[in-house]
Amino acid sequence: MDQRNHRVAIIAGDGIGPEVTDQALKAIHAAGEKCGFRIHTEPYDLGGTRYLATGEVLPDSVEEELAGFDAILIGAVGTPEVPPGILERGLLLRLRFDFELYVNLRPIKLLPGVPTPIAGLTPDRCDMLVLRENTEGPYVGTGGVLRKGTPAEVATQESVNTRFGVERIVRYGFEQAMGRRLHLTLCHKTNVLIYAGDLWDRTVGELAEQYPDIKVEYAHVDALCLHMVTQPERFDVIVTDNLFGDIITDLGAAVQGGMGLAASGNINPERTYPSLFEPVHGSAPDIVGRGWANPAAAVLSAAMCLDHLGEVEGATLLEEAVAGVLPTLKSMGGPDMGASTDQLGDRIATAVADND
Ligand code: NAD
Ligand code: IPM
Ligand code: MN
Repeated sequence: MDQRNHRVAIIAGDGIGPEVTDQALKAIHAAGEKCGFRIHTEPYDLGGTRYLATGEVLPDSVEEELAGFDAILIGAVGTPEVPPGILERGLLLRLRFDFELYVNLRPIKLLPGVPTPIAGLTPDRCDMLVLRENTEGPYVGTGGVLRKGTPAEVATQESVNTRFGVERIVRYGFEQAMGRRLHLTLCHKTNVLIYAGDLWDRTVGELAEQYPDIKVEYAHVDALCLHMVTQPERFDVIVTDNLFGDIITDLGAAVQGGMGLAASGNINPERTYPSLFEPVHGSAPDIVGRGWANPAAAVLSAAMCLDHLGEVEGATLLEEAVAGVLPTLKSMGGPDMGASTDQLGDRIATAVADND
């Protein structure tokens, strides 16, 4: 396909996944019309419904097909009807691992006019980029169980950290910091996790020599949580391990105004496989079917996808539309939002079309 035609696989998934993904697609198509590109979408029926009907999570043949796309958009996976881990590990983590999506790019940015639970926080003080290692750490699934169900049960869950894996995400972090405010924070727990922490710490220290313009700091993950709330201006680029990155980005979502606002990209920087874009939030079973989900995170994730595909102008249109529409809401999600998910999606798509 030529440069202005892009093939994107859509896994709307479970719960509010389809509700917010519909809105992202409206926005993307509106941007395509305006900027002269076409996104050819292909829906993939994967997630809880498929699993409950057929027992399939991600057939090998489907994964092979997905590998041929330019990008993948996911809504959310995971539902209370399926035991935890089956869909999350079998679909989402499998794609992150198999497609070498080793960078989980999670911007945390307070937009003007968006209410934050942090009193007095202003947008100029809240613009962070979390780079979460996305293929290793405690997520790899090594470990096991002995004497299951007995009083003597033993369960282990290991954290795997390789020099190769740590170095590639840390290097990506330095490169990102070069294009931002020249500041990088390593987030870990080196005072307790002495083996993994030491590997991360030494890797950052060694790479820092190649980036003399960048100021490097270290924060233990617990203290970082404190400072993310009290002084988010301390942070520019944050590089961290898989599990810490998962946890601090839900906190970041709250700081920037809510779960419905936090976007993410699972990036394969070498482009050997398609990158995958999805909101930070999950399937939100507590609000599914009500029209209470804020689709901003899905639209902003789609913007990251457009950016990755080289459609920078389209990405900016989506970001500007979301930034324009959010301040008109009564709340950032839930029954008191002042608009339904669908209405909000229409407003965002209209704002894209009307932008001049
Ligand atoms: P969640 O992110 O789905 O929900 C947490 C809270 O945030 C809920 O109160 C929910 O109503 C609210 N929320 C989430 N998205 C929102 C939105 N767009 N607008 C307004 N409010 C929103 O997390 P959870 O409840 O811990 O997980 C539910 C399921 O989703 C689990 O199966 C979990 O494994 C899965 N999950 C999937 C992904 C993913 O697909 N990337 C991410 C996180 C969780
Ligand atoms: C996220 C989610 C996933 C994670 C789950 C669903 C596997 O919480 O994308 O933040 O832990 O990475
Ligand atoms: Mn998470």
